[in-house]
Amino acid sequence: MKNIDLRSDTVTKPTPGMLEAMMQAEVGDDVFAEDPTVRRLEEKTAAIFGMEAGLYCPSGTMTNQIAIRIQTQPQQEVICDKRSHIYNYEGGGIAYNSLCSVRLLDGNRGVLSAESIEENINPNNIHHPETALVALENTVNKGGGSYYTLEQIASISEVCKKHQLPLHLDGARVFNALAVTQEPPQAYGKYFHTISVCLSKGLGAPVGSVLVGSQSLIEKARRVRKVLGGGMRQAGYLAAAGLYALEHHIPLLNEDHRRAKVIAKQLKNLTFVDQVLPTETNIIIFSLKGLTPADFLQKLRAYHIQAIPFGKNEIRMVTHLDFDDAMLEEVLAALKEIDRLWIKD
Ligand SMILES: Cc1ncc(COP(=O)(O)O)c(C=O)c1O
Repeated sequence: MKNIDLRSDTVTKPTPGMLEAMMQAEVGDDVFAEDPTVRRLEEKTAAIFGMEAGLYCPSGTMTNQIAIRIQTQPQQEVICDKRSHIYNYEGGGIAYNSLCSVRLLDGNRGVLSAESIEENINPNNIHHPETALVALENTVNKGGGSYYTLEQIASISEVCKKHQLPLHLDGARVFNALAVTQEPPQAYGKYFHTISVCLSKGLGAPVGSVLVGSQSLIEKARRVRKVLGGGMRQAGYLAAAGLYALEHHIPLLNEDHRRAKVIAKQLKNLTFVDQVLPTETNIIIFSLKGLTPADFLQKLRAYHIQAIPFGKNEIRMVTHLDFDDAMLEEVLAALKEIDRLWIKD
């Protein structure tokens, strides 16, 4: 029986077409800025988001951390949501890499309002850390794939401009957000100073994220990437997978969203499920009643299905490129069966 892995959208394997593109890549030494495929990926990603330049990095953690490092000074503060990846899942990198404190807000499933951001900008007083950067996440992983509209982003950007604060986006799943809003990605360049774009999540590349921003910010970012050991040599083989993903996989995100919604709908009818967060993109988060996450995951494993515990009583499932309609049917049947047996117990 085939394993069905819904732990994350990072679990995908390159498709034959992607592997072929990787095999055919023209490469050079990217630390000498001589890899034409990496260049193409950086330029293409920057152009998509209306930015001047891009920097290819091994991971989304690195692009986020570099963005924070180049837009803050030690002793300053970063405003972000309490669910944000940069705060929860990057190993304390804001403190470690940038020597900054964090102001955590409680947005609507991680989506912040311009008002709450403005209220949390510190006054100019030596007792407080100086607010230096606002960081959004779109979609919000821990918010169950919730997303910002351009209108919301525009009003946050207005507050940032008024207070002369740069605005960073953790866009690990920005294409998932854009698939729902149908808004033009180029508009993001007007509002954000830096965007981290992941190629290894819903887009299905094996590795890599691109940080996009102005020419001068990306020059600074290149220095920080070097000191973090993120300069790669013939990285074009990997960048080719990213280019292939940008060229072929964006429209497929809608399928991931459709399948996630079908699972969420089914979960709402099961007796062991307490609440399901609204499922708008490819992330399904639900809480359990009468069953621990460990028990539930063990039951799922009996059907060769994997998900992950997410918080004390919650489970996360993520749909992705390697999850098809036949697998969806298997998941629906397994959930129904687990529920039936659980009621009987
Ligand atoms: C919202 C978000 N940002 C950043 C990252 C970091 O990406 P990476 O695993 O490539 O470091 C992830 C990873 O899952 C994520 O979900």
